[in-house]
Amino acid sequence: MFWCAFVVFFLALGNELHLSHATEVSVNNTENKLCLYANLMVNFTVTYEVGVNKSETVLFVLPENVTTEGSICNNTTSTLKLGFGDGHSWAVEFTKDNKTYQVDSIVFTYNLNDSSVFTNSTSNETKSVTAKPRITNVGVDTYYSCKSENVQRVESVTQTLYDVTLQAFVTNGSKSDTDTVCTADLTSTTVAPTTTVTTTAAPTSTPTPTLPTPTTGNYSIAPDFNSTACLMATFGLRIGFKQGDKVETINLVPSATEVGGACGVNSSILILTSDTIDIMFTFSNDSKKFHLHALNVTVKPATGVAVVAANTNMSIWVAAVGSSYMCNKEQTLTVTETLTLYTFKLRVQPFGVEKGEFATAEDCGDDTTGSWLVPIAVGVALAVLILIVLIAYFIGRKRNQGSSYEHF
Ligand SMILES: *[C@@H]1O[C@H](CO)[C@@H](O)[C@H](O)[C@H]1NC(C)=O
Ligand SMILES: *[C@@H]1O[C@H](CO)[C@@H](O)[C@H](O)[C@H]1NC(C)=O
Ligand SMILES: *[C@@H]1O[C@H](CO)[C@@H](O)[C@H](O)[C@H]1NC(C)=O
Ligand SMILES: *[C@@H]1O[C@H](CO)[C@@H](O)[C@H](O)[C@H]1NC(C)=O
Ligand SMILES: *[C@@H]1O[C@H](CO)[C@@H](O)[C@H](O)[C@H]1NC(C)=O
Ligand SMILES: *[C@@H]1O[C@H](CO)[C@@H](O)[C@H](O)[C@H]1NC(C)=O
Ligand SMILES: *[C@@H]1O[C@H](CO)[C@@H](O)[C@H](O)[C@H]1NC(C)=O
Ligand SMILES: *[C@@H]1O[C@H](CO)[C@@H](O)[C@H](O)[C@H]1NC(C)=O
Repeated sequence: MFWCAFVVFFLALGNELHLSHATEVSVNNTENKLCLYANLMVNFTVTYEVGVNKSETVLFVLPENVTTEGSICNNTTSTLKLGFGDGHSWAVEFTKDNKTYQVDSIVFTYNLNDSSVFTNSTSNETKSVTAKPRITNVGVDTYYSCKSENVQRVESVTQTLYDVTLQAFVTNGSKSDTDTVCTADLTSTTVAPTTTVTTTAAPTSTPTPTLPTPTTGNYSIAPDFNSTACLMATFGLRIGFKQGDKVETINLVPSATEVGGACGVNSSILILTSDTIDIMFTFSNDSKKFHLHALNVTVKPATGVAVVAANTNMSIWVAAVGSSYMCNKEQTLTVTETLTLYTFKLRVQPFGVEKGEFATAEDCGDDTTGSWLVPIAVGVALAVLILIVLIAYFIGRKRNQGSSYEHF
């Protein structure tokens, strides 16, 4: 166990290209060698009480100038603790095994007594919230890199992490030049993490032409830190829901979605949580085949009331246990009268995933081949029909001409 001395690098000279205020810190161990490195941005939104049944919300950012007192570098556990302002701190807990390391939790502590941030707070307590971000499977001697936003909501605190570069368990005292890129960055390859969604060539028969095709997300569940995935799913998701008489639609944004769930013998669960959508998929293993058994969806639109819909008696996405289910075309699943799901480029395997790869897929049938055959068949039929009509016309004309000659 080494207690660490610490050094903070301020970006005093600045990087001309980077006008944004990233927080960059380095922590050295007792041998004065680099052991923790971070360069990131965090936005906090905190809701606090200002009177009986009255609350206020403040937004502030992790400042450039922080302290690293309390940071610890050990062999298999490390803590990066950033202190700032009047008694606030942000601490990241890392653990490591042979080949990878991960973030176990982020503890954000805020002092409601700091009236420069929490004006009119009725409480003067110091509060803490623990977030569990999905920063896992980072290769040892690589740094974690994630430009996309990672939104963590716990109780009355929302933390948005972005432009994150993080390395713990630094070897040989120098930051690695190899990175482990987060899934969110891989799925939304074309920059701009928030608004613009990359539209892939997809069918245009979407319910509302105003929404782009949802981004395809890759989601997986591992039984524990050491193992590869036991459940895998990839799809783009849109939800249509009723608000009064109007039907509204919303897309799930994979980069702002947290993944949870569990794998079982008889049933597996996938839970996706974002600011606007909470969804739980329950899959059943009926010994030889699996299917999607239940769905529980909550939509929290920016305006209007939340819509909750659950259906526990479904029997779709059926495939043999040990294979995966695939459906590239847009699929419509009616959960309840008030809520409908649309899936795009779907592939799921809720049981028996090996080596973190999808097994052979069972396709949803009239996928590509089917959709090719239909227009061809229609085309051929039309051509034949036109030919028959033309032949009939010419025969009729000849006969008519023949008969008119006879009359003269
Ligand atoms: C973070 O907060 C800053 C300052 O309010 C704002 O300009 C920026 O857009 C926010 N970024 C995110 C990702 O919320
Ligand atoms: C505060 O809210 C609670 C529950 O919403 C309510 O029962 C109570 O009367 C409210 N108190 C005041 C002073 O408005
Ligand atoms: C603030 O804390 C002190 C003790 O530390 C306590 O006596 C006081 O009542 C608290 N004030 C408020 C507004 O809660
Ligand atoms: C991870 O695997 C290694 C060896 O494969 C083992 O020693 C260690 O206990 C495992 N860790 C956990 C958390 O299962
Ligand atoms: C599925 O269920 C059967 C019997 O109910 C069990 O033998 C099998 O191991 C299960 N498959 C998986 C992948 O859990
Ligand atoms: C799975 O289902 C089978 C048959 O219904 C049952 O015998 C078995 O105990 C179940 N296993 C678990 C882990 O629930
Ligand atoms: C669906 O989820 C909500 C919120 O988590 C819960 O209250 C409700 O009981 C669930 N419904 C079903 C049928 O599981
Ligand atoms: C579930 O669906 C099956 C077949 O669709 C039906 O026979 C059964 O009654 C349904 N059960 C419930 C609880 O709705």
